[in-house]
Formats: sequence, structure tokens, C-alpha cells
Amino acid sequence: MTVDKRVKQWWKHGVVYQIYPASFCDSNGDGIGDLPGITSKLDYLKDLGVDIIWVCPMYDSPQVDMGYDISNYEDVYRPYGTVEDMETLIRETHDRGMRVMLDLVINHTSDQHEWFKESRKSKDNPKRDWYIWKPARYSATGERLPPNNWRGNFGGGSVWKWDEQTQEYYLHLFAEEQPDLNWEKEEVRKAIYETSMEFWLKRGVDGFRVDTVNMYSKPPDYPDAPIIDPGAKYQPAGPLYCNGPRMHEFLDEMNAILSKYGAITVGELPNTPDMSKVLRYVSAEAKQLDMVFQFDVVDVGHGITHPLDGRPGNFTLPELKAAVERTQTLIRGTDAWTTVFFENHDQARSVSRFADDSPRHREASAKMLALMQACMSGTQYVYQGQEIGLVNAPKDSYPLENYLDLNSYLFIDMVKERYGADNAAEIDKAFDGLQYLARDHSRIPMSWNGKGKYGGFSDVAEAAGVEVKEPWMKPHPLASQINVAAQQGDPNSVLSYWKKMLAFRREHAELTVYGDYTTLRMDDEDLHLFLKEGHGPAAGSKALVVLNFTTKEKEWAVPSTEELGLPAGPEVKLEQIAATHDGKREAGEALAPLEGRVYLVKF
Ligand code: GLC
Ligand code: CA
Repeated sequence: MTVDKRVKQWWKHGVVYQIYPASFCDSNGDGIGDLPGITSKLDYLKDLGVDIIWVCPMYDSPQVDMGYDISNYEDVYRPYGTVEDMETLIRETHDRGMRVMLDLVINHTSDQHEWFKESRKSKDNPKRDWYIWKPARYSATGERLPPNNWRGNFGGGSVWKWDEQTQEYYLHLFAEEQPDLNWEKEEVRKAIYETSMEFWLKRGVDGFRVDTVNMYSKPPDYPDAPIIDPGAKYQPAGPLYCNGPRMHEFLDEMNAILSKYGAITVGELPNTPDMSKVLRYVSAEAKQLDMVFQFDVVDVGHGITHPLDGRPGNFTLPELKAAVERTQTLIRGTDAWTTVFFENHDQARSVSRFADDSPRHREASAKMLALMQACMSGTQYVYQGQEIGLVNAPKDSYPLENYLDLNSYLFIDMVKERYGADNAAEIDKAFDGLQYLARDHSRIPMSWNGKGKYGGFSDVAEAAGVEVKEPWMKPHPLASQINVAAQQGDPNSVLSYWKKMLAFRREHAELTVYGDYTTLRMDDEDLHLFLKEGHGPAAGSKALVVLNFTTKEKEWAVPSTEELGLPAGPEVKLEQIAATHDGKREAGEALAPLEGRVYLVKF
């Protein structure tokens, strides 16, 4: 399958901005973000250069996993607002020429969903097999064991939960309050499509980000996972429960509905390093998903036995470059499409992970990463706060008890269970892992105004004279230094730079969005050089991107004609068309710490 048609589409050159409802903007001062808060910031997003908003789950939910545990697809979590508020948000977004994507979370529901409440009642309940129930196994000594050794996605426990009442286990790949739906049953699939997709498509949403899209179909025999964490009872099993045998059949069914509405999709695709498998999801001809989020880049620096068991500096620049290249070259010679994202609600801040978040270097770092992403191929995603260069909360001003994500505290529980609840050294080491990689960092309430209360998270309510409450999660300790209001009027701010680079990306879409990407000098530990080459009618146009990932000034040699993919002979001129630092610099002039430049290759 190599059909190379790089067809232009609105959702390919459109910029997507991801919104985490609890933490974006609080309009009524109760300390929880809400839908009217989002609506109030649409002009801000339009001005930034956003074309599409993706709203993370705003459905009714007990919020064990921040709305990824849905108890009713057809209602809104009341503190966020109502279905009517959603209708207003959709209309107001459309009125500004932007579109709306919602999060589609249908691998599992909340245990408080009516379907599961029925299912757990008795073995002969009509909804029993809407979820995945299995009998226990027993050891030689008669000890009750779960059906297999799979470890859940959160913490170190089993994916199986014993139900006393009906004496069987049910499957939950995530928290025990998130039972997995039984996709084998047609009646279940039909009910899912109707309630989660059509209900909102009829209300005008333009597409979905599809949560854990490769987990619906499970291997029928539920085999044990190989032992990769020898000290542990349960083993990571992602490769076993992802990409199961009926996945593509299910996606065909979903597409029959989505295409009626012209809805777009971007699927979350964990545990799939194999490119040929990725292509089966995202080739245009296969009609499965329009885009996917591969995990190559955001997994860089993760621990091996547990993702959160990582430390700053635990990867090299060539490793990061190779990960970026894997996602970028997905479209080379294929009819597939790719995505550009360094952050989302499941990741710590990119400046802290991939560059330098010290006060001296964090702005330059944010600008360099902005420039890099603006030049990459595929649909660009920006996560709230990324546009102002928010960094991870520092260890000394954001103590462990401020971390509220279950993925974080279940990790700490796992460490306590393994090393003892009073093992301060191990717990502190685990805290280091959280400070570096926890999901909490991106979930800290947005800092709209450093002079407002709690970083201005509720600035809309404050402006209306409402007494505002402390946000649901402690505000960012650096909110007085990194916030929207302070950056808005400043042409040198990170925010102004993102705006500029998003405009640059649009202006040079042939090279940036739609061009082909090639890494030069893969082994260079300090610098990242890549080439972008126009495609189709733009064939022959080229740009060179040069990035200094270090905090030191760096010399660099101008690439040879051969490196630039040109025949030897003609004189080549490099003309600077974008940079993180002021002024034009000749190609080959030393790079300042964390400087990035883009040169048009003229020959
Ligand atoms: C996805 C979501 C994550 C959630 C999980 C379970 O990975 O992005 O936030 O915890 O699915 O729904
Ligand atoms: Ca609120």
C-alpha cells in the first residue's frame, strides 16, 4: 500500500487546541473550570490562530479519572454546565469559524453508568455480558487468582476486580471504577454508537478524539503477559490488549456513522511501535481514522518497569530525534496523515521534559520547541498553557499532597507496597519521578492573570465581582511569572511567539504542514537539524531547520549540497525566514543557547 496523495484538508492545516474543562477557565468562581468559561475565551483562541478546539470529557461522571469514567454520555457534569451550555459553546465556536471535537471514551464506562449497575446485579441480568466477567482461577494451594496476570494502566494492581456479590471478576484496563465494555456483543456496540457518538453529532460536533482507540477488541484467550518486572505480581500487558483481532471491523462500523456527519477523528494509539500496524489505522484508503496520536515522542524518558519511574536527563537528543522521525515519516510515500504534539492532559510539560525549565532558559526553550513544532508535518495540536510556556510545578513549591491524579497516587502506593510505607528515600525518589513526568502538571488550573486570585483562574468571575474560591487543584506556584495577561501585550513573550509561529506555519503550509521531513545528523547530541521539502506542486522547495538543544553557544557547519539533497554544483543560498532570536544570522553563525532558526534553501 503506497498511494501517495497528499490531499489538502481543513483538518490537516488547521491548528487544534486542547482544552481540559476542569482547569481551563472558571466563570462562576466555584474553583472549577466550566463550559461558559471556555466560551468566554473563544476570542482569545481565535486570536492565537486556533481552528479547532478539542474539549476533554465534559460528560456526567463521578470524576474518578477526571471524566474519563462516564456515567452518562448524554449529559454534562453539572459543575461544568449543562447540555444547553454545550450547545452554546458549539454555536459560538462555529460562529467564529472554528470547529469542535469532543473526547470519545468508549472502551469503558464508569461503574456508576446504568449499564454497569445492571450488569453487576446478577449473573443472569440481561446486561451481564455488556461488560467482561470471568470466573476465578485457583492456585495449587487453593488461593483465588484473577483470570490472568495483566497489570492495570494505573498503579501496580490487577486489571481484574473481584465482585463479592456475584463471585466473578470483571475487567478494567484502567481504574477499577472504569469497567471495560464488551465490544463482542453487537447490541452493546449499537448502544455505544447511539449514545456517545450520534447524540453529539446531531448537536453539531465536528469530530472526536478517540480515547484508547486500539483496546476495544481483546484477545479471546486472555493470555498471561510475559514477565518484564520480575519483582511484581502483575505485569505490564499493553501489547496484549491493544490492537486485538476485531479492531478494524469495529472501526469500519463506527465510520459508517461518522462519515454520515463528515466527522473527523484522531485516535489515541498507545503500545503500537510497529509502523505497519499504525498505517492500518491511519491510511486514507483503509478509512479507519483520519489521524492518530502515536506515543513515540511522549514516551521518551519514561521508566521501563513503570512509566513514572523516570529522571530528568534519562534520554539523549538522538533518542528524541529518532522518536520524532518515526511519527514524521509515517506519511512518506503513503496516503496516511500524522500529528504534531508534545503535550496533552496525560503528559508533563514539554519545556521541562525536552528542554530547560530553569528561570533563565525556560522562555527560550518554549520558543525553540514552538518553532520546531510549527515546522513539522501533520496536524498540529497545542495543549492549554503550552502557548505561554508553562513548566512543571517545582518540587519545593508544590508538595506531594498537591498531586491529585490517581495515576500519581497509585504509583506512590505501588512504591510503598514494594519498599515499605516508611521508606522515605524510595518515596522521595518516586516524587522525583512525579515532578518530572506526572499528568498533574498539565492539569494545574490555567494562569490567566498573575495579579488575580489563584493565578487568575477565575478571572471572569472576579471581574464580575464574585468572591472566588480556591481552585480544585492548587494553582501553579509560578503563576505570577507565567500567565496570559503578562504575555498578551508583550511582543517578545512566548505567547506572541506561538502566535507568530502558527501564522508562519500557515503561510508556509506547503513546507511545514504538507512537506516531507528528514533528519540530518541524527547522531549529533546537541543540535537538531532537519530538512523540510515541498511535495506535489511545491516539489523542489526546501527549508532547513536548525535547533540548539543545549544551554551553551554552539557552532554548526552549513550542510553540504549532498545533505540538502541537491546535486553538487549549483551555488546554494540559505535565507533566514524565521528564528527564535532577533535579527538575521548567516547560515553557519553560532547558535545562542536554545536558539532555533529556519532557512529557505535557494538554489
Ligand atoms: C486515555 C486518556 C487518559 C485516561 C485513559 C482512560 O489514555 O487520555 O486521560 O486516563 O484514557 O480513559
Ligand atoms: Ca466554575
